[in-house]
Amino acid sequence: MNALTKITAQSGFDITDVVKARHTTKGYDAAKRISDVDIAKVKELLRFSPSSTNNQPWHFVLASTDAGKARVAKGTDEKFPFNSPSIRAASHVVVFAARVAVPDAYQQKVLDQEEADGRYVGDPETQKAQMAAGRTMFHNLHKDVLQDVQQWNEKQVYLNVGQFLLGVAALGIDATPMEGFDPAALDAEFGFAEQGLTSLVIVPIGYSDAATDYNATLPKSRLTYADILTEV
Ligand SMILES: Cc1cc2nc3c(=O)[nH]c(=O)nc-3n(C[C@H](O)[C@H](O)[C@H](O)COP(=O)(O)O)c2cc1C
Repeated sequence: MNALTKITAQSGFDITDVVKARHTTKGYDAAKRISDVDIAKVKELLRFSPSSTNNQPWHFVLASTDAGKARVAKGTDEKFPFNSPSIRAASHVVVFAARVAVPDAYQQKVLDQEEADGRYVGDPETQKAQMAAGRTMFHNLHKDVLQDVQQWNEKQVYLNVGQFLLGVAALGIDATPMEGFDPAALDAEFGFAEQGLTSLVIVPIGYSDAATDYNATLPKSRLTYADILTEV
């Protein structure tokens, strides 16, 4: 039994039940806070997401205070006010930002972290050089040939968002993925441009309020397998 089989056997739930039970929350109970124990797990979800070449081209803001959430709401208040109440009432709010480039220093930081985490056994310098070359090959493909490094980075951040939505649902935490915000306003609020970052998605998390979360009781709607799946 490998580690994953063990976890799913012990956990007692079917992951497909989680994807069908989760929903985009449209109203939060402002009195309910996510516990510190669960917030530590929420941070693990952000940190342990996979990314192409393990380049982790992301940064997150985690707002837990009214003042912090008000700063995040500067991204929605003017142009997307329908999203602001969830940002203010949710227990916590995560802003997902992507790196617009992958500077050499950042690549080196990832390499050094991999070494510190024990990824390079035996002949660390040779193995590090091989990993750097592989990573640089992909980076150069996106930088020089496809010329889409920022888009490539953003794809990695969206993978993180997807894992995050599934992960928090498995923890029994409600969430609201949001593209409805003004990235320029949020980038200015957090000085993202100066840090080589741009904001991509806001995700308030907390606990649904039965009185205002109209999406909690609506049935899920998805296209049929006939529409979306080709089996060969
Ligand atoms: C990337 C992304 C951006 C979204 N942006 C918003 C948003 O700004 N506001 C909102 O209320 N819902 C937003 N949604 C929620 C979608 O409308 C929702 O996921 C979809 O209708 C499916 O419903 P479900 O999440 O309840 O299964 C977004 C979802 C995703 C994945």
